[in-house]
Amino acid sequence: METLNVEKKNLYNPVISEILKVESLTATEKRFEIALPKSAMLNHKPGQFVEVSIFGFGEAPISICSSPTRTPTFELTVRKTGRLTDKMHELKAGNALGIRGPFGNGFDIEKFKGKDILYVAGGIGLAPLKSLIDYTIDKRNDFKRIIILYGTKNPAEILFPKEIEEWKKRSDIEFYITVDRPDDKWKGNVGVITTLIPPLELDVENTIVSVVGPPIMYKFVIMSLKGKRIPDENIYLSLERRMKCGVGKCGHCQINGSYVCQEGPVYHYPRCKELEEAI
Ligand SMILES: Cc1cc2nc3c(=O)[nH]c(=O)nc-3n(C[C@H](O)[C@H](O)[C@H](O)COP(=O)(O)OP(=O)(O)OC[C@H]3O[C@@H](n4cnc5c(N)ncnc54)[C@H](O)[C@@H]3O)c2cc1C
Ligand code: FES
Repeated sequence: METLNVEKKNLYNPVISEILKVESLTATEKRFEIALPKSAMLNHKPGQFVEVSIFGFGEAPISICSSPTRTPTFELTVRKTGRLTDKMHELKAGNALGIRGPFGNGFDIEKFKGKDILYVAGGIGLAPLKSLIDYTIDKRNDFKRIIILYGTKNPAEILFPKEIEEWKKRSDIEFYITVDRPDDKWKGNVGVITTLIPPLELDVENTIVSVVGPPIMYKFVIMSLKGKRIPDENIYLSLERRMKCGVGKCGHCQINGSYVCQEGPVYHYPRCKELEEAI
C-alpha cells in the first residue's frame, strides 16, 4: 500500500478521494469523513494538515481532526469562509475531492508520554487538537492526567457535542468548557478561556500544554500559564499562516525564515520566542 506523504515524488498531485459522510456541527462548520483510494494510506501524525482541492475552486490547508489510531478513513472539520470552503460545504457523501499530504510536523508525541497533558482549545482550534486528544485517549495508559479546556464565543459554536458528552462521562478525563456570551439555556462557565486556568491544580514540571486557537488567544493563554509557573519548555502552540504550496517551496507561510508548512504548524514555545513571533 502506498503512503500518501511528503516523501512521495509527486507532492503536487492531489489524490482523488471520496467523501463518505458529511455532518453539520454548527451554522458554519461541517465535519467530513474521507476515504483515500484503496491503494493509498494517509499515515498522519496528530497536528498535521492536508491540502484539499476542488477542481475549479482551488486548494486550502485543513488540519486532520481524526486520530491516526482511527483509520482507514480520516476526518476534516471545515469552517465556511470563502471560495474553496464554501464549495466544500455544498459537497455530499459520494462526491470527490483532491487530497495532498499529510504536511507539517505534527505534535512530538514521544515527549508527551508519561506526562500530564493539558489541552487549551479556542473555537475551531478544537479541530486540530481533537486528533491529538483522541490519540491520547486511545493510548490512555501512555499518559497521566488528561485535562481539556475548551472555550467558544457562544454555545451555538460548540464543536463535537457527541465527543464532548463522552469526554465528560469519563472519570479519567477532566473536561472544562466556557463561553464568552451565554444564551438563556447555558448553565456552565461564562468568560474567556483563560478564566479556566487559575483554578487548576497542576504538577507544573510534569504537565505538557498544547494550545490551539485564534491568534489573539495565545498571548493571554501564555500569560496565564506563566502565572501557574508552567515552564516554557512544556508549552506547544499550533500556528496558522496563509499557505499555498504546503511543502516549503513558495515562501507564503514564512515567519522570520521559518516555513510554517514544514517546521510547523506545531511550534515549541521556546522556538516561537527565538523567531520573535509576536504572541
Ligand atoms: C495549517 C493550517 C490548518 C488549517 N486547518 C483548518 C481546519 O482544520 N479547518 C478550517 O476550517 N480551516 C483551517 N485552516 C484555514 C483554512 O485553510 C482557510 O480558511 C482556507 O484556506 C480558506 O480558503 P477559501 O478558499 O475558502 O477562502 P478564501 O476565499 O481564500 O479566503 C476567505 C477569507 O479567509 C481568509 N483566509 C484564508 N486563509 C487564511 C488563513 N490561513 N489564515 C487566516 N485567514 C485566512 C482570507 O484572507 C479571506 O478573508 C487552516 C489553515 C492552515 C494554514
Ligand atoms: S506554503 Fe509554500 S512554503 Fe509554506
